[in-house]
Amino acid sequence: MTTSDDPTTADDLTGSDDPASGDKAGTLVGDGLVLRAARPGELDQIGALLTDRGEADDAVDHRLVVEDPDLGWSACAVVVDGDRVVATASLLDEQVRVGQVVLPAGQVELVAVAESHEHRGLARALMDWAHERSAQRGHLLQVMIGIPYFYRLFGYEYAIDIAPARELTGEVAIAGAGGGRLRAATEADLSVLAALQDIAQSAFDVAVPHPPARWRALLAHSASRTWVLERDGVVVASARVRDDEDGLLVAEPAATDRGAAFALLSRLVELSAGRTIAAVHRAGTVTGTAWDPVLGVADEAAEQYYVRVPDAAGLLDALRPVLDQRIAELGRRTGLAGLSTARRARDALVLSTFGAHHSMPFVDGALGPVQTGGPMQGPGVVGGFGVAPDQLGALLLGSRGFAGLRRLRPDVYGDPELGEALFPPLTADVLSYYLPW
Ligand SMILES: CC(C)(COP(=O)(O)OP(=O)(O)OC[C@H]1O[C@@H](n2cnc3c(N)ncnc32)[C@H](O)[C@@H]1OP(=O)(O)O)[C@@H](O)C(=O)NCCC(=O)NCCS
Repeated sequence: MTTSDDPTTADDLTGSDDPASGDKAGTLVGDGLVLRAARPGELDQIGALLTDRGEADDAVDHRLVVEDPDLGWSACAVVVDGDRVVATASLLDEQVRVGQVVLPAGQVELVAVAESHEHRGLARALMDWAHERSAQRGHLLQVMIGIPYFYRLFGYEYAIDIAPARELTGEVAIAGAGGGRLRAATEADLSVLAALQDIAQSAFDVAVPHPPARWRALLAHSASRTWVLERDGVVVASARVRDDEDGLLVAEPAATDRGAAFALLSRLVELSAGRTIAAVHRAGTVTGTAWDPVLGVADEAAEQYYVRVPDAAGLLDALRPVLDQRIAELGRRTGLAGLSTARRARDALVLSTFGAHHSMPFVDGALGPVQTGGPMQGPGVVGGFGVAPDQLGALLLGSRGFAGLRRLRPDVYGDPELGEALFPPLTADVLSYYLPW
């Protein structure tokens, strides 16, 4: 594996292309620096580096990642200078649901480079490691939150809106909010917590749930606390709460009914003891609808998750059932059979990312497997679509859809009606490691 742009500084020490395989010596990434899988004996050093470049909570999160049975030490890489860990990154396993299709995905987290070793390509080398590992694990895309702009250097682009956190401004009638006891969640609540989130996410077009490894970590870590509300001994609501000098941030709220939503909020108001409370607005969910009138106006600054699409053909292929459904829906709406509708795009749906093009033949009204060809500058000639590769994430997962993107970007174009039907604006709900607010 080459982990540097400069082939003279990157050299495989072992012949292995997988430095994460544990017992390999790793890859030279310049000046005697070696990138390899992290080792248990390096736990404290990695924790100290993460604390130094980020926060002490990051060290706790890192320990929970490498000690989790689903993730483990191979999920973390380091760059060492002799015995000293000078850089680290971890890759987490995620799932992104689009309609009924579940896409395996990766999330890079816990990235840090020692100040003494910055600007030497180590973050880039670690991102290469993470993306190679992600591909090996069958991930079709990567999703992450990260510092602004930086990750665009590694193939990411902003694609999925982050739901806003809005300050509580209205009165929550505490007495009338209904009963319920708030208590910290425990391992015994894991399945009900996941079920509450499944219900909250079910109405979204795109959803990223917490994988089991993260549920375990969230209960054990200190950066946020997960609370449940019990009514008559049954858990009816939950939230992940960050409590710091700014007050309370209520994230990932979920409730079975309106009464439970208000009871949860009123118990959290009590917990806040007069400090500021902001709650994440999950539009269309039980808590979103119940709390909307008592929450203030959202800040208008753009907040989005980064998405990286390493293999357009693989992602499009996986999404064929979703595209088929949309074609059928267009057919129903226009009174045209799917195949007739398809004829607007000739015999195949062609999507050119300009440097390559991806063609899906219509077979019996449904899309056949993706066939990839070379550069195609003018997909309009074959009734196809042009989409810049860095806009694919926004097109396939984002809130603008084809109609919104084509108004913004000259490098997203094609037949408006078919484009809007195939790539509609999508609602999304992402549960991630960090609370982005
Ligand atoms: C941000 C950080 C990881 C960069 O590490 P690094 O090893 O110095 O980065 P690299 O040398 O690999 O730089 C890679 C590219 O990013 C650019 N870059 C470096 N830091 C940057 C920043 N903060 N913003 C934008 N670009 C940056 C470099 O110029 C380089 O670009 P190029 O390849 O086109 O020349 C490191 O400064 C750090 O640990 N910061 C504190 C912790 C942190 O912010 N972690 C990220 C949490 S999401």
